[in-house]
Amino acid sequence: MNSYKITTLNDFIILRQKDFPFAKGELSSLLSHIGTAAKIVNKKINKAGLVDILGRAGMVNVQGENQQKLDVFADKVFTDALRSSGECCGIATEENQNEIVFSDKLARKGNYVVCIDPLDGSSNIDYNVSVGSVFSIYRRITPRGEEVNNEDFLQDGTQQVAAGYIIYGSSTMLVYTTGNGVNGFTLDPSIGEFCLSHPCMMSPPDGRIYSINEGNYIYFPQGIKQYIKYCQEKDESTGRPYISRYIGSLVSDFHRNLLKGGVFLYPPVENMPEGKLRLVYECNPIAFIAEQAGGAASDGRRRILEIRPESLHQRSPLYVGSENMVNKVLKLLI
Ligand code: AHG
Ligand code: MN
Ligand code: MN
Repeated sequence: MNSYKITTLNDFIILRQKDFPFAKGELSSLLSHIGTAAKIVNKKINKAGLVDILGRAGMVNVQGENQQKLDVFADKVFTDALRSSGECCGIATEENQNEIVFSDKLARKGNYVVCIDPLDGSSNIDYNVSVGSVFSIYRRITPRGEEVNNEDFLQDGTQQVAAGYIIYGSSTMLVYTTGNGVNGFTLDPSIGEFCLSHPCMMSPPDGRIYSINEGNYIYFPQGIKQYIKYCQEKDESTGRPYISRYIGSLVSDFHRNLLKGGVFLYPPVENMPEGKLRLVYECNPIAFIAEQAGGAASDGRRRILEIRPESLHQRSPLYVGSENMVNKVLKLLI
């Protein structure tokens, strides 16, 4: 029987701890708490049709969007896991207006804050289409022992010490970076462990997939309309026409493009002049991963990671994926 070497997420985090001269295991512990929370959310998602977790929670979140029951459930699971980690002193989540301060003594001593979209792609939940969770980890700015405040969460993306996502798809994967490349782990339900399956993930510099909600076409900036036409023109030397693929779940669209090569675009649209995606807990973590995998991420004018957030839920246009494809979009946007 061929034996295959299993490297679990925790094995890997410990192995790679040496990448962190200053961390004495705190970040490692934080990442493994996130892994545990992801397993709990995954179990609920896998049974979604059988337990009372589908549909709306009957509440509206800070975004004015109807919260799905799974949004609320995932938000609670990640919040509880991070609060009990002892390494995290507060979180900012899509589902709460303000940052959540962990004021117990142990948590106040934590070095890190986490920004998280506990469930991404909520509109897909009831239809069994893949969804995800997205997170960023920063070192706190305020002194250890004190309560965190807003400034801890409004750091620009270049300050992230780690970022990752979980994709609850045909298999469940956790993909993360700590600034030393991107690695992917697939959940093996038979042992309940995330196992290294995609070491050193690199995004092809070119691809043939473009992902955009063309239902908003009439509102797109002229450069984006030109880019869509460019994708659809016939030119075998550049592999065009490209392929349009759009799931409506950022994590799923991004993950497929990361592996195969492609570009994801969410431009400004009529009722969302800054685009739809949130800078702090969607664009920044995805941008960090994209760049660490050799790709690019821009708001059309600036590198996503260099945008200084002014508020927790501020939105940003997002063009992210294969470097040459993102650069082509930017050239047409100038
Ligand atoms: P969330 O479910 O966390 O609100 O995120 C949904 C986002 C993102 O996942 C996806 O790319 C985008 O909404 C799709 O928006 P449209 O339906 O407007 O295309
Ligand atoms: Mn989201
Ligand atoms: Mn969400």
